[in-house]
Amino acid sequence: METIEAIKTRRAINFFDSSRQIPADEIIKLLDVASLAPSSSNLQPWEAVLVDDPARKAALRKCAYNQAKVEEASAVLIVIANPGGLEEHIDRVMADRVEKGYMMKEDIEKQRQGPFKMYKEKESETRKLFAVKNAAFFAMNFMIAARGFGYETHPMDGFNAEEVKREFNIPNDRIIPVLIAVGYARPDLALKPRPFRYAAGDFVRMNDYRAG
Ligand SMILES: Cc1cc2nc3c(=O)[nH]c(=O)nc-3n(C[C@H](O)[C@H](O)[C@H](O)COP(=O)(O)O)c2cc1C
Repeated sequence: METIEAIKTRRAINFFDSSRQIPADEIIKLLDVASLAPSSSNLQPWEAVLVDDPARKAALRKCAYNQAKVEEASAVLIVIANPGGLEEHIDRVMADRVEKGYMMKEDIEKQRQGPFKMYKEKESETRKLFAVKNAAFFAMNFMIAARGFGYETHPMDGFNAEEVKREFNIPNDRIIPVLIAVGYARPDLALKPRPFRYAAGDFVRMNDYRAG
């Protein structure tokens, strides 16, 4: 599927066909594509829990204000932003850069300081924003890639993060920006028209915020 087509046909699907299951290894392939999302310094501060077991989906539904799609979709991805992704991934990122000729080995010490200066301490607001912003790119890539694979998705903010963390043993320092249901749409129900979007002319200002 063409990229523009995938973006244009993505909808938040409320009714999934619970009789059709996407095999877990197909969703893993999809996640490998989603992980091609860009991230600051390539730090990839995201993690995910893929929930496809019926009993676990039922448990997740309880944490998500009883939204039926959590149980009806093939699987639900708990997208996790990891503020500590900087400390955890920086050495691998540096080694990769040296190996691929982006920088010299002697420059590692100097280069690795950059992201720490920019993204402050692990508990800071700046660091949380870093993690969430990059995880959001990953989440969007997942939804577009899912269309490319012929699947449907639904992003959800309607969940209790503390309950999700407790139920799925997610460490407390992690942030859950969104849950994403993935599966096939019910063939017997037509989607309502897409909710409106502001046109670019409504929200873009050319060259200066105060421009008309
Ligand atoms: C971050 C985020 C959180 C959302 N949370 C929910 C949710 O909890 N429940 C729900 O029914 N829809 C949720 N939605 C879906 C939106 O309502 C939907 O994307 C929007 O109305 C536009 O429809 P479309 O995606 O089909 O174009 C969420 C969407 C996003 C991006």
